[in-house]
Amino acid sequence: MKLDIAVLPGDGVGPEVTAEAVKVLKAIAIQFDHIFTFQNGLVGAAAIDKTGSALPEETLTICKNTDALLFGAIGTPEYDNNPDAKVRPEQGLLGLRKTLDLYANIRPVIAYESLLNKSPLKKENIIGTDISIYRELTSGIYFGEKRLSEDGNIASDLCQYSREEIERIAHLAFKAAQTRKRKLTLIDKANVLESSRLWRKIVKELAPKYADVTLDFMFIDNAAMQLIINPRQFDVILTENMFGDIISDEASVIGGSIGLLASASIGEKHAMFEPIHGAYTKATNKGIANPIASILSAALLLEHFGLFEEAALVREGVDKSLKLHITTPDLNTKYDNISTSKVGDFIEDFINNPEETNLN
Ligand code: IPM
Ligand code: MN
Repeated sequence: MKLDIAVLPGDGVGPEVTAEAVKVLKAIAIQFDHIFTFQNGLVGAAAIDKTGSALPEETLTICKNTDALLFGAIGTPEYDNNPDAKVRPEQGLLGLRKTLDLYANIRPVIAYESLLNKSPLKKENIIGTDISIYRELTSGIYFGEKRLSEDGNIASDLCQYSREEIERIAHLAFKAAQTRKRKLTLIDKANVLESSRLWRKIVKELAPKYADVTLDFMFIDNAAMQLIINPRQFDVILTENMFGDIISDEASVIGGSIGLLASASIGEKHAMFEPIHGAYTKATNKGIANPIASILSAALLLEHFGLFEEAALVREGVDKSLKLHITTPDLNTKYDNISTSKVGDFIEDFINNPEETNLN
């Protein structure tokens, strides 16, 4: 298969972790006789510094003309500490999501056996957790009208959803549930919010089409607690943009490190793959950032194009690296010198030679 991939490393540790994902994809291409090409684009603060825009036209052109996007991270402390800045790194990411209509953000959360003791949660409560979060990504409060009164004392952000926006991601979430444990939980605040009531109404209407899926509903406040005390009760979670943002960071605690969580952002025409973690600027160029989230995002990319055997090999490599403690300091206790690129090298070696790869 030939795949043209846009690589948008962005800020902070983005370039380092993305380089490991590219390394892994190159190894897969060789092993399975595929042709993967990579084209780099500027995004985020890195793009603002060079062009004045967080999402330069040139980057958008690259993204529109490639099959998939591999995204790193965006943000710097300079911008985080200055929320009033008009040009912001986040505009790069939000602009890509909106322009490419990447409406479904899928965030898998797994409790790896070998990492159960890395989570601050009780082992017996998290063992066996396997959740797929479907977060709506191009609407809701993130994209609704923003207002600030003239005197600067009243501000509002509109949370608006249309039937179409809810239906299209709900269908994907139902379909995903059908391939898993056939349970779908809609997380909302339907006791208070009109937009949540619309979500419930529409999702209930669609349910008969997916009669083999058990549908239930949970308020976001309760869900935040349930995720911590009994995450195994969830299979597929469906939720709106901001609730999904918050609970996916919360859910990362189950896996033991946010450095493990990958995501796919899917639309009708385009697809982007990215770690859910941020730019982690403090770690930039220290070789301590965990590349697994980015490497697993590459596995999601492969699966998106039907390359299941290839993705399975990447996942096996990741599992093996975790089992052998070939991990960065966020997870490691056994060895203290395993760098970002060493983890990538190990997984690359594993792909080249699955039988014989061990720590060397
Ligand atoms: C995420 C991030 C983004 C979001 C930020 C960087 C705009 O937190 O992908 O979860 O809020 O969606
Ligand atoms: Mn987030």
